[in-house]
Amino acid sequence: MRIYVPGDSAARSVGADKVAVAIAVEAAARGMDVQIVRNGTRGMIWLEPLVEIDRGQGREAFGPVAVEDVSALLDGTLVGLGPTDDLDWMKRQTRLTFARCGVIDPLSLADYEAHGGLSGLRRAAGMTGVEIVEEVTASGLRGRGGAGFPTGIKWKTVLGAEAPQKYIVCNADEGDSGTFADRMIMEGDPFTLIEGMAIAGLGVGATRGYVYLRSEYPDAIEVMNAAVRIARDAGVLGADVVGSGRAFDMEIRVGAGAYVCGEETSLLNSLEGKRGVVRAKPPLPALEGLFGRPTVVNNVISLATVPVIFEKGAQHYADFGLGRSRGTATLQIAGNVARGGLFETAFGISLGEVVNDIGGGTASGRPVKAVQVGGPLGAYMPVSKFDTPMGYEEFDQNGGLIGHAGLVVFDDSADMLKMARFAMEFCAVESCGKCTPCRIGAVRGVETIDRIAQGDAGAAALLTDLCETMKDGSLCALGGFTPFPVMSALTHFPDDFATAKEAAE
Ligand code: NAI
Ligand code: SF4
Repeated sequence: MRIYVPGDSAARSVGADKVAVAIAVEAAARGMDVQIVRNGTRGMIWLEPLVEIDRGQGREAFGPVAVEDVSALLDGTLVGLGPTDDLDWMKRQTRLTFARCGVIDPLSLADYEAHGGLSGLRRAAGMTGVEIVEEVTASGLRGRGGAGFPTGIKWKTVLGAEAPQKYIVCNADEGDSGTFADRMIMEGDPFTLIEGMAIAGLGVGATRGYVYLRSEYPDAIEVMNAAVRIARDAGVLGADVVGSGRAFDMEIRVGAGAYVCGEETSLLNSLEGKRGVVRAKPPLPALEGLFGRPTVVNNVISLATVPVIFEKGAQHYADFGLGRSRGTATLQIAGNVARGGLFETAFGISLGEVVNDIGGGTASGRPVKAVQVGGPLGAYMPVSKFDTPMGYEEFDQNGGLIGHAGLVVFDDSADMLKMARFAMEFCAVESCGKCTPCRIGAVRGVETIDRIAQGDAGAAALLTDLCETMKDGSLCALGGFTPFPVMSALTHFPDDFATAKEAAE
């Protein structure tokens, strides 16, 4: 009998380790032949620790499982949730990037290959750089870090650049509030990211890769380091990648925790051992990136999606989606929500369906007031915008951004003036200090919101003006996008600003 207990840090944070130990002790005491696999999470975070039992007829899910439930679990008397794959949450998804996450043993290369792993890389190994880049372009994949820039075009720029050395840099500095997709895939299916980076290397002619991974993810750092060693020993990385005659190797570098180091040029500075300050663009990192060399900088999910594109073909991937947003969105549902977790589905699903139908509304049971989509720089979407389909252009037209596809739900007790203040304060704290609209503007922004709260009638117009300046004059997205949460709060929830004014009068 096989028992799966997630080793994912979300599951561990609610007691998965204790449950795994209790199962091992109880099974040994009973003389039962039990193999415990520490898999990644299936993404149903509200059910963690989600334990699965395979008695040879597929996997049955139980959750959340506590140490006290272990006896009944092994007796076969604990009431379960049914076959994992039949659960509504699983059945309704299109899992392409996350197909193996939670299914396999993360550090078993054999398990990885048995579930389709490495077939994309083997196919790419027989293709030229131009063919590889064309395949990615045809898939329609766009950068999943936030900006949604076409991955194929980025790779083509690097491929076309003449240089003695090129690099693949994976941005794993996942700093957006409510996001965890990067962490989940690195902990649950690390070889997918390694395979994606190797394909990128073969595609653009880069022989070295780096994963810039935030220090707040100790489990992901450990899993990724172990996976790189295993991949190297197996010839997936090294001088002759899967017998292609081409070289690619990579290593994990740990960032120190500045939000702005998720911005690509700041990340490159940090990777070079310098202070994490934003560089002006141009030059684009694709032409002058790490150590001044042409560099592909892609987010974890962008790179981890590459293997399935090569395994199933670009057209298979491109067949999912809406408009110019092709393939799947890896939605991270968080905040005050009944069912939080990772839900991968084709672009096109509406925001309201994600929050109310998939997420089950708020955890508090109170009405939803707003959903912040796209991290701390994303807009607060009111319920009146719930019919907005998940798509880059569709969100843009509705004053929002998808960003890294994190959704944080708030109920009607949220004070949107306080949320706007938090956004400005966050920008003031995290600003790298290079440009004035952000460095000074965010501090003045906090003061101006405080003036509104104290009933200063003219301060709202000043805040709007300041946001325009920050939007137009900031060097990077931190200062340039902070106006999204601030202005969306002011525009969609004027009562929260007016109430404060009236109270002060
Ligand atoms: P950007 O629009 O400046 O650039 C997008 C990407 O395309 C960059 O990698 C850029 O170098 C590349 N690019 C542009 N033109 C190119 C060309 N002709 N050839 C090759 N490459 C080209 O956006 P930026 O500032 O990199 O990212 C902003 C986004 O980051 C925001 O949308 C925000 O949502 C997101 N973000 C994500 C965070 C996370 O935790 N994942 C944290 C903070 C922000
Ligand atoms: Fe630095 Fe802020 Fe300017 Fe970005 S917008 S370069 S974080 S000061």
